[in-house]
Amino acid sequence: MNIITVKNQEEGGKIAFDLLKDKLTAGAKTLGLATGSSPITFYNDIIASDLDFSQVTTINLDEYVGLPAENDQSYAYFMNEHLFKSKAFKANYLPNGLASDLDAEVARYDALIAEHPIDFQVLGIGRNGHIGFNEPGTPFTQKTHLVDLTPSTIEANSRFFDTIDDVPKQAISMGIASIMSAKTIVLMAYGAEKADAIYGMVKGPVTENMPASILQTHDDVVVIVDEAAAAKL
Ligand code: GLP
Repeated sequence: MNIITVKNQEEGGKIAFDLLKDKLTAGAKTLGLATGSSPITFYNDIIASDLDFSQVTTINLDEYVGLPAENDQSYAYFMNEHLFKSKAFKANYLPNGLASDLDAEVARYDALIAEHPIDFQVLGIGRNGHIGFNEPGTPFTQKTHLVDLTPSTIEANSRFFDTIDDVPKQAISMGIASIMSAKTIVLMAYGAEKADAIYGMVKGPVTENMPASILQTHDDVVVIVDEAAAAKL
């Protein structure tokens, strides 16, 4: 793992963007994208650049079950607001959390990832070490799946909803195996509340109880953290 400590999220976004530029020059065609606050500065740098993304396909990590794309808490809405409405891509894919047959949707998503192998995967990390919505205990062999969110994730996400009862209880997420199949992985994390997860990911044992720890076994991972998130390393 290549760990880069930055002053702030703006510097972190810029470093991730420079890495992306190099990979695009080297022929990267498919980006795996993440929601959450951590990648926002990186997305701003993509928007501000004059780089052409019209031949680039994006595949998002996850989506809540049950929220329509117009709901401002859906990940489709988030991606549109923070990136897609301002930068044209060849295609943008997210899981469809409104699919009537969620098992078929999971299979469709795996087929999509197989068809478009991910060159550059962007990740954030949950306070409990989850990546995408792969909660502690998820098998490392897991591909795309329907997830029951943990109480800690529901609680962490409740700040975005009127009441905790409005927070979706399920999501469709790429699995750990899907994430690990990406050629390059860039994980961004900022703030003291991520320090334990960053410690577990980097220094802890590789265990399904700390999903991000599997990244220790990938040969091209860049971790971009501020000092607060890196404090326990
Ligand atoms: C959610 C998302 C994750 C994200 C995490 C951290 O749980 N499913 O993909 O990494 O939140 O979000 P943030 O970057 O806002 O801390």
